[in-house]
Amino acid sequence: MGFSRWVFLICSLLMISPITFCCLTSKEASEIPINFLDFAKKAEFFDWMVGVRRKIHENPELGYEEFETSKLIREELDKMGIPYKHPFAVTGVVGYVGSGEPPFVALRADMDALPMQEMLEWEHKSKNPGKMHACGHDAHVAMLLGAARILQEHRQSLKGTVVLVFQPAEEGGGGAKKMIDAGAIENVKAIFGLHVNPGLPVGKVESRPGPLLAANGFFEAVISGKGGHAAIPQHSIDPILAASNVIVSLQHLVSREADPLDSQAITVGKFQGGGAFNVIPDSVTIGGTFRAFSKESFMQLRRRIEEVIVGQATVQRCNATVDFLFHEKPFYPATVNDKDLHNHFLKVAGDIVGTHNVKEMQPLMGSEDFSFFQEVMPGYFFFLGMKDGKATKPASLHSPYFKINEDGLPFGAALHASLATRFLLERNSEVPLLNQNLHDEL
Ligand SMILES: *[C@@H]1O[C@H](CO)[C@@H](O)[C@H](O)[C@H]1NC(C)=O
Repeated sequence: MGFSRWVFLICSLLMISPITFCCLTSKEASEIPINFLDFAKKAEFFDWMVGVRRKIHENPELGYEEFETSKLIREELDKMGIPYKHPFAVTGVVGYVGSGEPPFVALRADMDALPMQEMLEWEHKSKNPGKMHACGHDAHVAMLLGAARILQEHRQSLKGTVVLVFQPAEEGGGGAKKMIDAGAIENVKAIFGLHVNPGLPVGKVESRPGPLLAANGFFEAVISGKGGHAAIPQHSIDPILAASNVIVSLQHLVSREADPLDSQAITVGKFQGGGAFNVIPDSVTIGGTFRAFSKESFMQLRRRIEEVIVGQATVQRCNATVDFLFHEKPFYPATVNDKDLHNHFLKVAGDIVGTHNVKEMQPLMGSEDFSFFQEVMPGYFFFLGMKDGKATKPASLHSPYFKINEDGLPFGAALHASLATRFLLERNSEVPLLNQNLHDEL
């Protein structure tokens, strides 16, 4: 029996057509990203994506309240004829493009906005007071819908199924974890996610293999003393002084107990207590965040934060209780990029924007709940250039003046779509290798 008959036999056993992996040359595969980009840059397509993004921008919704955003996503998927499941984790939507058969590869976007007031005056400013898409999740959704449309249009070249994951509550709510628990990504072999970067020019992307973003936890502590007259301190137990010493001691954890080469951070961002010039209050509440890259360092910080708060409060005769707010704000693991997927990204992104526009970046102490996906499967997260060409000092993420350059949208859509398409192609081209092995054995 000749090799080609073996291939045919084994393909039949695996229920795939031998044509699925032998009809695309590597040149054709490398042309996928640029073809997708051309497609996404067409005026009608671009205007549609911009329209979707602006509509979401005008109506920002907080974590687990993304009802209108979720509805808009489902309406757009309906128009494209893409089947989906809903709801996952309250508002989450999961769409499916391609053969409906394995392998499965996922693309992810987050839907939630931030509890802050938009200060930028423009035509499509947030219409919801105190809520704003200042982290670009409006663009993330628009780009994943863009990718959905590209993929649906080219579904005959998909050698498997692309799973489109629209998740709620990235900003502290751990929506990704709830999507996983609800079974949104069962059988998925790999997942890709992106984040806009308002400081990086359009047409550039950046990421790195291994640790990219830190693990993140929150804490809140109530330090109680005994209130009284400010002029008679001997009759009171002053929680303001105790809390101040607690904060100073917390700042010694990273500087004195952590390896200087193992990046960690603790910030107390909340200090509430007292309301009068001449009154010692009963208690003070402080709150903050802590970050680290390794699980060991993270858990060590967590343990020491509690010990230091309780111990230092005692020094000043106060009592303290510490809450890590696990149920409202789950700990986010570190975002760690899979090394093979990094190589995949370099190839695909290089084909679309040119290798000189694919930058390797330093890790950041920021965090992302994409990391929950990476705990259960290989995942890859990268940053996409969205810098306003005219801005000399663009507003950062989470700024009330945050602004993206919509010219970056086609790049995000095309990158998403090509990363998935090429991943499925390569997964399938692993089949002949498997055949070869079997052939040798037989
Ligand atoms: C601290 O807790 C102990 C034990 O419950 C209690 O006796 C004491 O009064 C508390 N001190 C303050 C300052 O709240």
